[in-house]
Amino acid sequence: CIWTCGSSHNRRASQSAQAQADLVKEDTSRTQYCREMSNSQRSNERRRNGRPLVASFLLSLALPMMLAMMLATVLVEADPVLPRHCKGTVKHVHLAVGRDPTSQMTVSFTSKWAYPDVRAPLGGILYGTSEPDMSSFVAEQEFPLTYNTTLPLERWGHYYAPFQHHFTISDLQPNTTYYFLPVVGSREAGDDALFEHAKHVHNKHHNTQGDADEGSPPENITAENQIINEQQINEQVEGFNRRHRMLTPPAYDGHEKDCVAPHKLRSFRTAPVTDPNMPVAFAIVGDLGQFEHSQYTVRHIRDHKDDYDAAFLIGDIAYTGADERKWETFFDFFDDHSPFDQLPLMIATGNHDIEKQPNGREIFRGYEHRWRMPRVKPAELGVFEGPDGRLNMDAAPYPMPYEWGNAYYSFKYGSAHIIVISAYSNMDPGSTQYDWLVEELHSVDRTITPWLLITMHVPMYNTYDLHHHDLQIVAAREHIQPLLIEHRANMIFSGHIHAYQRTSNIVEDAVKDPRGPVHITIGAGGRACSAPFVNITAEPWIEQRDATMYGYGKFHIYNSTDAAWVWIPTIESDRHSFNYVKKRDDVHIPSVKDDGAWIKNQYFLN
Ligand SMILES: [Fe+2]
Repeated sequence: CIWTCGSSHNRRASQSAQAQADLVKEDTSRTQYCREMSNSQRSNERRRNGRPLVASFLLSLALPMMLAMMLATVLVEADPVLPRHCKGTVKHVHLAVGRDPTSQMTVSFTSKWAYPDVRAPLGGILYGTSEPDMSSFVAEQEFPLTYNTTLPLERWGHYYAPFQHHFTISDLQPNTTYYFLPVVGSREAGDDALFEHAKHVHNKHHNTQGDADEGSPPENITAENQIINEQQINEQVEGFNRRHRMLTPPAYDGHEKDCVAPHKLRSFRTAPVTDPNMPVAFAIVGDLGQFEHSQYTVRHIRDHKDDYDAAFLIGDIAYTGADERKWETFFDFFDDHSPFDQLPLMIATGNHDIEKQPNGREIFRGYEHRWRMPRVKPAELGVFEGPDGRLNMDAAPYPMPYEWGNAYYSFKYGSAHIIVISAYSNMDPGSTQYDWLVEELHSVDRTITPWLLITMHVPMYNTYDLHHHDLQIVAAREHIQPLLIEHRANMIFSGHIHAYQRTSNIVEDAVKDPRGPVHITIGAGGRACSAPFVNITAEPWIEQRDATMYGYGKFHIYNSTDAAWVWIPTIESDRHSFNYVKKRDDVHIPSVKDDGAWIKNQYFLN
């Protein structure tokens, strides 16, 4: 982040009394911040300096047994990245709307770690419109996905991702609540056995009708614990955890929390019919991660889940740093705190989702494997001929070879047409994404979906002193913006800057024009950083800005002409309570904790 931890005494001599009082406050925050930073640096140093000592201490031990036991203890304790091992159960359940959200919902989940000799289980979903009546069943049609890679430091070893199951349930009724029960079973036993197994689990745990016949477990379905050799897996997981130390900042650590019950019954609601006056509401957040403050964001959405039809997460999702185990801790975190096993979550590419793999040139693997958006076509993921190791995330190359799949897509929901753009795929005229976007924009029928909403990780306009020269931002402003202005997009939601910002209706070069879109930056979902303003006085196109609060936003459409944007800050920053300005340490600007705007649909202006 941007504070430097030095002395500011020289400046203070010429300040007024008020300014001095302000500076005392500022210095208190700064001192606390710097103390925390230096403590953290010291503890990192201790850890770094401690390693040779620990190593030589261990080497000096004579008894191999003792050495092995101590090594195991030290390494397990030193490794905060411990994905939760839930024996034989479905976990990490999350939803996304299908191509037609009125009739389709995609359910994704993970099952087993996919070690080389582990057979892939078969997934299925039992569902129905009420708890007692769950008679519909769909078994997965495609083989579950997995991938393996080397962890960022080779000594951490090789990583096998768990099996990722994706189902799209179709033929649903609009605006209807469905209950669903995801299950996994033996692939060899087949669909019918899995269906019987699912009915058995449902009858045992959820069928509240007194005369329900629980039946006995079918003979030929291997119960979940028997799908694979649990003992073997346990040994592998323990060995895996022992081998893989993690030296980067801790991820969410929920490995000792309870697993989600395998018979947990969830529900979702399908989209209402597409209609120009259909009210709908979306929760919108960027740069979430799995940090302490991320919990406040997702819990707030969870506690108000019924206020939303869907949520958008606009890139920089799990902050794995290409340590693929962190996708699992991220979804463990979701299992514990989020509503996204019941509320569809629609994602977009961010720079931290690129995850160039250290053993090759693959990119966006976790992003593509672990999610399933309403894709136009299966992903085309190329290899990236760039620098080895971890990419410098603040200067991501452009463009990256990633087309279709979860990169860019669209869907209609109620009175809105939503287009998700990938700022990390090619956006230049003539590129696959650009041509698709042109066609997609022409297909939007504002008499049916009068609201046109865009999500894209990078903000085109930015009051903060960060990321002004990102190649993605330059390309988006030059190539994508004219299309969005021409087609009268209403709102452009972005993240990337870990702060909040709302602009006026603007067109190119931030010229105010009531026909132009409103740009919202909502990147303070959980990843901490204190961005300074470029200017003391907000630019004329800025309506509100703040970099001191974590949170998210709500876009609530009332009818074809009126909507409301509400910023929902959830907790104060741990860094400072004032906004700062580039190169002006003597200035601080009060925190803002409230913002919202009534949005008139400018498509209907002349
Ligand atoms: Fe970002």
